[in-house]
Parts: sequence; structure tokens; C-alpha cells
Amino acid sequence: MTRPRRPLGVVTRGTTNPNRLRRVDNWIAAHCTDVLRDAPDPLVVDLGYGATPVTAVELRARLAAAVRPDVRVLGLEIDPVRVAAAAGAADPPWLTFARGGFELAGARPAVVRAFNVLRQYDEAEVAPAWRTMTGALAPGGVVVEGTCDELGRLGSWVLLDAAGPRSLTLAAKLSRLDSPGTVAERLPKALIHRNVPGEPVHDLLRALDDGWRAAAPYAPFGPRQRWVRAVAAIREAGWPVSDRPARWRLGEVTVPWSAVAPATGG
Ligand SMILES: C[S@@+](CC[C@H](N)C(=O)[O-])C[C@H]1O[C@@H](n2cnc3c(N)ncnc32)[C@H](O)[C@@H]1O
Repeated sequence: MTRPRRPLGVVTRGTTNPNRLRRVDNWIAAHCTDVLRDAPDPLVVDLGYGATPVTAVELRARLAAAVRPDVRVLGLEIDPVRVAAAAGAADPPWLTFARGGFELAGARPAVVRAFNVLRQYDEAEVAPAWRTMTGALAPGGVVVEGTCDELGRLGSWVLLDAAGPRSLTLAAKLSRLDSPGTVAERLPKALIHRNVPGEPVHDLLRALDDGWRAAAPYAPFGPRQRWVRAVAAIREAGWPVSDRPARWRLGEVTVPWSAVAPATGG
């Protein structure tokens, strides 16, 4: 008999909040539609759901409504106390909870959402964790790994597949946004220490700030118009913006990972 592997990772702070992950959930519903619709088993892992399972409950509800009703969400937590605490929210087979880490506890999901998990690790631990998670995916599967603030007003995430990181998305609640550069506080762990001169993500945030300042005349038409102008400006300046204006209007911008990958050691 083979013994179950020890979950990979460490217990960290369990802070979470209702509705905190709405931006990334809506993005997953829009961008992972084909991955989930084509999956023989539409399994989504919510890795590191935290002190309460509320964001896993919300993820299941959002994807069932927007993508397919038979989507299954498996909440994995490395802290056994948090696994036990989530039991009352389970709704098998659609929503279940178990102990697991970056190895994904033997699951082969089509999609993994790992939010506010790697933030509490060292930067050097990111690449191995990414490799472990992507190595456990079902064929064609993806990982969405990122960070946000407590209320989900500022966030960013990396999309990865078996080949590695593919894109970076920045997202903000525009009505509360002072300037795009504030997203720097909520960059994924792989980039948060890279917001320094000479690093591409620093150039990206500066370009967005410049675009935002130049778009100040659009402010009377609302922050959405101003953001759309700022994103259009960076695209005109040569940034390979890879999403469409319909997403910009939601306060997002997505660029290929190759445009922001760390200049050194990343
Ligand atoms: C800050 S909470 C995030 C909760 C929720 N995902 C959110 O964004 O609101 C981080 C959680 O990740 C868990 N965690 C840390 N490393 C993990 C790992 N390798 N595998 C599974 N869970 C992990 C911690 O125990 C903690 O409960």
C-alpha cells in the first residue's frame, strides 16, 4: 500500500473575506470557459481557501452559473483545522473539501485557483510551487495564481499552463483607484519584489501611471473611460496588451508573461 504524500507547503495566515475574489472568479469564468467546457471532468481546485470556505462556495456558484452547472470545486487546505471547519459548507459532489498542498492531493483538475497563498512564501519558492501545481493538472489545464487586497479592490494574477506562466492580469476597482501604480502592492509573489527600475513590471506600472495621468481630461466621464484611455495609451506605446477593451472597462489589463517576466533570476 502506498502511503499518502505529505501535503506540500506550510500553514499560513487564513485571512479571507466574502466576495474578495470576485474579480478573479469573473475572469476565470470568461477566460477558462473552453478549458472547463471541454474537460471530461470539470474539476476546479481552490487551493488555500483560508479560515472559512466562503470564497470556495462563491467560486462554485459563479462557475456553475456562468460556465457549466456540473462544475465541481474541491477546496484544498494544508491546515487540517480549516478542513474540518469547512465540512458544513460541503455540497458533494459539487463542492467538497480536503487536506492538500501544492501537489493537489492526487486531484487532476482542469483549473486551479490559488489566491493569496504564495504571497506568504519566499520568492524562491514560487517557481517550484508553480511547477508542482501545473504538473498535477489534467491535460490542457491551467493554474490562476495571484494576490489581492482584503476587499478584492486591487489584485493581480498569473495564468499558467503545463508550459509555464502565460500572462499577467492587473485588476482594480476603478471608482477607488488613485493611480494604477498602487496595484504594485498586490503583485503576485513572483513580481512583488520586482517593482524596481530595470524590471519590466516596473516599466509597465510606470507606463500605466503615465497613461492614467495623460488621460486626466477623461476623468469627468468616469474612471472607466480614463482607464480605457490609459490602457489604449500603453498599447499604442508598444505594450503587447492581450485582452480586449471589453475587459479594460472592468478595470483589467492583461499582458503576456514574456512582457513582464523578471529581468534577472526569475
Ligand atoms: C490568506 S489565506 C487565503 C484565503 C483565500 N484563498 C483568499 O484569498 O481569501 C491563505 C491560506 O492558504 C493556506 N495555504 C498555504 N500554503 C498552502 C499550500 N501549499 N497548500 C494549501 N493551502 C495552503 C493557508 O493555510 C491559508 O489558510
